[in-house]
Amino acid sequence: MQIIHLANTSREWWREAVIYQIYPRSFASFGGGVGDLQGITSRLSHVADLGAHAIWLSPFYKSPQKDGGYDVADYRAVDPIFGNLNDAKNLIARAHELGLRVIVDLVPNHTSDQHEWFQAALADPSAPERDLYWFRKADEAPTDWLSVFGGSAWTRVCDRADAKGSPWDHDDSWYLHLFDPAQPDLNWAHPRVREEFTSILRFWLDLGADGFRVDVAHGLVKDPSLPNYQYHWDMVSGGDLLPADVPPPPQWNQPGVHDIYREWRAVLDEYEGDRALVAEAWLNDPLDAKLYVRSDEMSQAFNFDFLTSPFELAEYREVIANSLREMDSVGAPTTWVLSNHDVVRAASRFGLSKTGKGPNGIRPFEEQPDPELGRRRALAAHALGSALPGSIYIYQGEELSLPEHMALPDELREDPAFFRTKGAEAGRDGCRVPIPWEADYPAFGFSPAGSSWLPQPEEWKALAVDVQLADEASSLNFFRKMYRLREELGLGRAQLADAEDSYLHYVSSLPGRDDLHIVTAFDDPVPLPKGAKIVLSSDEVAPSTVNDEQVAPNSTVWYTL
Ligand code: GLC
Repeated sequence: MQIIHLANTSREWWREAVIYQIYPRSFASFGGGVGDLQGITSRLSHVADLGAHAIWLSPFYKSPQKDGGYDVADYRAVDPIFGNLNDAKNLIARAHELGLRVIVDLVPNHTSDQHEWFQAALADPSAPERDLYWFRKADEAPTDWLSVFGGSAWTRVCDRADAKGSPWDHDDSWYLHLFDPAQPDLNWAHPRVREEFTSILRFWLDLGADGFRVDVAHGLVKDPSLPNYQYHWDMVSGGDLLPADVPPPPQWNQPGVHDIYREWRAVLDEYEGDRALVAEAWLNDPLDAKLYVRSDEMSQAFNFDFLTSPFELAEYREVIANSLREMDSVGAPTTWVLSNHDVVRAASRFGLSKTGKGPNGIRPFEEQPDPELGRRRALAAHALGSALPGSIYIYQGEELSLPEHMALPDELREDPAFFRTKGAEAGRDGCRVPIPWEADYPAFGFSPAGSSWLPQPEEWKALAVDVQLADEASSLNFFRKMYRLREELGLGRAQLADAEDSYLHYVSSLPGRDDLHIVTAFDDPVPLPKGAKIVLSSDEVAPSTVNDEQVAPNSTVWYTL
């Protein structure tokens, strides 16, 4: 038995919180087929009843929606498709009433090309706003950098679709966009950019936001000498797939980003109530993650090593031990994340022949996951992660075991990755399909209009919230029970030991209660010790034929002795 994490004595709320990610376009609508803030407010009790402590809202700012709202035109306004600022205030008030904290998504790496700064920069090559972005005069693209979504990371002003007949029709300068051309990268060396974002932080903190999820936190600062770097940096997994001898990238994970987060930490600390900063950083060296969560920087970072880990004993054991050790070394909680709006849903990803990060979307002619296996493994992985110390992120619909939508027609796709890879990647639309609330209503109750911006698969009828609430053995009721037990047993703040068995076996301890054993079985069943009292088993929802004396393959059991 080896202790791999000591019980946590600090009590900031985010250290052991269950945080539920809401993707506003697809959670619930109060009107037409696109989700909105009033819709979210009206369905928030679902999240509170699940046992979550906070919500993280993906962007709902004014935006042309070229990248699902991650292209912000005005950081202080709500996009009319989602409502208005008053709706945002009501949402925050209702969440607080229900005991839910609210984490807002901040997108500081780039603005939308419709942001007033970029519009001013486009209109006049001598405008001071040019310096707020990365404009360069050159015959060719200034570097060989690749956009995360495919193709070059540079676009010539005159090549923009809106150039014809515009004042910038003959402007051959280039601008940098690590994502879509509609998302020009900001120049964080400019004081105006820094001032603007601290002011934006204050704006939302004043409105009652309890924290921020920081989009592309590893991207803000670039090496100003702009050296070439031909490698593709992948969404979520970063440079994991690159050969080991590839040099560090000049556009990602530059040391200068940490000064920015120190500045922001100081702003948040002026407010009461443990406001939190959460880093979305895709790094190639897992040891780099801890740098973002040193005590004077962010509060926590998404654990993408856990998300991208193959569903295998050795990999899980290593990633769990490493994450706890690294985060503990700087006093930050570990997070346990399995899905978000950027990856194939866990219930499908885990059903592929090769588990791990998975492809960027799945179409009918690509390998189809085994739905039962995927669901079982996703539940097992959730039951494992939920027993571990630290905090949990759950993406809307995971509690329903929703699979990826794999039959979406290409004409309905919106993800820029689909277009920029010329269809080589399906992209992320399949994990962003509106939630099924009521089985017997049109669009499964997603909107009063009976429509949804992406069609929901017919099979989701059986997965609708109302159906699952009525079924004791449903995935939804399993998650509710799991989070209730996690809270009652203080699993998020407990000590954790690796029992050093030939299978995955941890022991969670906290004074005043029995030790809780956590066992995950992968391909082979694991025998349970005599007298084991089962507290929770992911097999309750996805029953197998294995008897009670064993942890069935692809499941997790919590027990006491
Ligand atoms: C983040 C978001 C993703 C978005 C990208 C660019 O990774 O999670 O959805 O496309 O940033 O803003």
